[in-house]
Amino acid sequence: MSNDGVNAGRRRFLVAATSVVGAAGAVGAAVPFVGSWFPSAKAKAAGAPVKVNVGKIEPGQQMVAEWRGQPVFIVRRTDEVLQNLEKVASQVADPESAASVQPEYVDPKVRSIKPELLVVIGLCTHLGCAPSFRPEVAAPDLGADWLGGYFCPCHGSKYDMAGRVYKAQPAPLNLPVPPHSYETDNVIIIGVDQEKA
Ligand code: FES
Repeated sequence: MSNDGVNAGRRRFLVAATSVVGAAGAVGAAVPFVGSWFPSAKAKAAGAPVKVNVGKIEPGQQMVAEWRGQPVFIVRRTDEVLQNLEKVASQVADPESAASVQPEYVDPKVRSIKPELLVVIGLCTHLGCAPSFRPEVAAPDLGADWLGGYFCPCHGSKYDMAGRVYKAQPAPLNLPVPPHSYETDNVIIIGVDQEKA
């Protein structure tokens, strides 16, 4: 699986421009992302839906958009990744997000509208750090049984590739899925529910 390029481990990601239809993503460095965020500078955008072109996300890779001052992780999952979600279902705390934030039109098992495209708020549900994207299976520092997901560097919470938090972690809930919808196959609107698109 490709795990280079736009991953949080290198603290490099794509930030989608806001409010412009079809806006292309721009490469941006933010170290750390949340720390570099100044709400007053973006206040005008607060609450505005954000359109993101997801067409260039390669299988296994992530891009990071921005909505309401929050990072939004968008991952194009492979078939292997989707199969691994089944394998870890018994190890995550809330496998179908019964207690976690997730719109009702999102498939409860894969936590997305389209199985391959995950869209989650990139803030740890413990104390709000930005989890690192760690898609590599059996990453040496995460253990031989690691099947990819997110690792929060602040207190060690682990999430799977659906943003579902594993059991017995500091974080209590899955990464929230924001309201979103598809304008076209490759353009999603974050902040507008699927039914209202
Ligand atoms: S903020 Fe992520 S584990 Fe504490």
